[in-house]
Amino acid sequence: MEGKTLKEQLIQKFMELYGEGGEIRAYFAPGRVNLIGEHTDYNGGHVFPCALTLGTYGIVRNREDRKLRFYSVNFEKLGVIETSLDDLVPSKAAGWTNYPKGVMWAFEKRDHKLSHGLDILIYGNIPNGSGLSSSASLEVLTGLILKDTFGFDEVSMVDIALIGQDSENNFNGCNCGIMDQFASAMGKKDHAIFLDTNTLNYEYAPVILEDAKIVITNSKVKHSLVDSAYNDRRNESETALKELQTVVDIQTLGDLTESEFEQYKDAIKDPVRLKRAKHAVYENQRTIRAVEALKNQDIELFGQLMNASHASLRDDYEVSCEEIDILVDLAQAMPHVLGSRITGGGFGGCTVSIVKNDTVEKFVDEIGKAYEEKVGHKAEFYVVDIGDGAKII
Ligand code: GLA
Repeated sequence: MEGKTLKEQLIQKFMELYGEGGEIRAYFAPGRVNLIGEHTDYNGGHVFPCALTLGTYGIVRNREDRKLRFYSVNFEKLGVIETSLDDLVPSKAAGWTNYPKGVMWAFEKRDHKLSHGLDILIYGNIPNGSGLSSSASLEVLTGLILKDTFGFDEVSMVDIALIGQDSENNFNGCNCGIMDQFASAMGKKDHAIFLDTNTLNYEYAPVILEDAKIVITNSKVKHSLVDSAYNDRRNESETALKELQTVVDIQTLGDLTESEFEQYKDAIKDPVRLKRAKHAVYENQRTIRAVEALKNQDIELFGQLMNASHASLRDDYEVSCEEIDILVDLAQAMPHVLGSRITGGGFGGCTVSIVKNDTVEKFVDEIGKAYEEKVGHKAEFYVVDIGDGAKII
């Protein structure tokens, strides 16, 4: 396959699997990294993610019947998985195909009827389980495939993000917020998205770091409690909100400033819920300040806010873990590292750091060695290129 582009290679594989002929189309949807604003998206707060150039590719051809055939280059052993548009229900046996099926289900639910089946080949280059939103990218990819294939012009890219979230919440059982799908659908090269998750108003902020780079470090751990712990955090925050609503007129935790929170916090009757709500309020305000700092080219302040975000996620929201804290401590202790924090849902996955250009090599080398010594396995490092949102390729 030498000399061929990735798209050409995937199309060749598609034809080997499903045969030649017909119109074959290609799509891409990126993963994301969140710079700051963690666990705020279901609390009515702000987030600041950007799309990666890593993501999920889809090669597609129409069928005349109602069959769906799926194949993932990442799960070759599973072979071609065959199902149909008349079987859009979640099942354990369906494995990864629950994600595209969930999006199809969510389209049909909105009366966007899918009139024929599809042959689909998927390939993703986001490391699995890394917390860089491989599942959201697969959902957004499917949304774009359906919009394009069936000519649903009225479905916007924001709708595709919302449909992806709906499928994740109500088909796949994770009560996630809108951040990941929004970043994958709406990303913009060299920009991060300052999104108000309460209103879905958003603004693109150029990420100009002059002499620094964004570096993602993958801890290569994913603790198994992820989904249930995520849903627990969400429930705790919602209960804290209800308690606050008995003393102050707010719709979400994102409506409060820090001083308002301090004024009303006694309404929260449980110390754990108090910490959760404090994180949600303070993290939202930190995110607003961080975007301001970036606009003012104050990268030092941006980095300090990232560090404060990590402390709050570790101590108050309690979504970090030993391996991630090791990575963050090592990074924060290194000169010319402006900030470092956990990114994404938590309990493993990745950290995101801002590192001066001339320190990147040292960062990878020294943190790589120290992490392996302490934890017993290697971390992985990616210097980030911020890419565009989902597109036809
Ligand atoms: C996961 C969820 C997002 C968001 C983050 C935490 O990635 O899918 O909606 O809540 O965790 O910020």
